[in-house]
Amino acid sequence: MKKSLDNQIVLEASASNSYLAMACWCEVTGYQGSANYFYMQSDEERTHMLKIVHYLNNLGEVANIPAIKAPLHSYKSLEDLIKTALKSEQSVTKAIHAMVEIAQKEKDHSTYVFLEWFVNEQVHEETKFETLLQKFDLIGRDKLAINEIDKILAADASAPVDPAI
Ligand SMILES: [Fe+2]
Repeated sequence: MKKSLDNQIVLEASASNSYLAMACWCEVTGYQGSANYFYMQSDEERTHMLKIVHYLNNLGEVANIPAIKAPLHSYKSLEDLIKTALKSEQSVTKAIHAMVEIAQKEKDHSTYVFLEWFVNEQVHEETKFETLLQKFDLIGRDKLAINEIDKILAADASAPVDPAI
């Protein structure tokens, strides 16, 4: 179980770095709303990582802080970037579900309950990116449409932060 939780720290830290790189690309490309959104998303992933770090440390286990592989720095389009984000969330969901199974198998009830928050969070994360991807079909992919989608991301980024995240 400890090994899986350490591995999850790697995944959350990688997601945080990857969203930070996405924010940089958006900012330089002129998608300021999307940049704000992904800067926020990067902070969120860091808080997910910290949840696991504190959980392990509170149990008297020392959380393993890993080196992180460099994320992608460039994308074909905003849509391509959001597709990459969705894929990354889908693989995080798989890893969390695998951890839940380990917790069940090992009858580790406290970790099982601890992971419940992450299971719900992943549903929320995947829905967020799926909904954003739908916008490209609904609004379009020309410059004006992308500008509208960037505004939607800007609005999401300035929405009040959910205290549960
Ligand atoms: Fe996360």
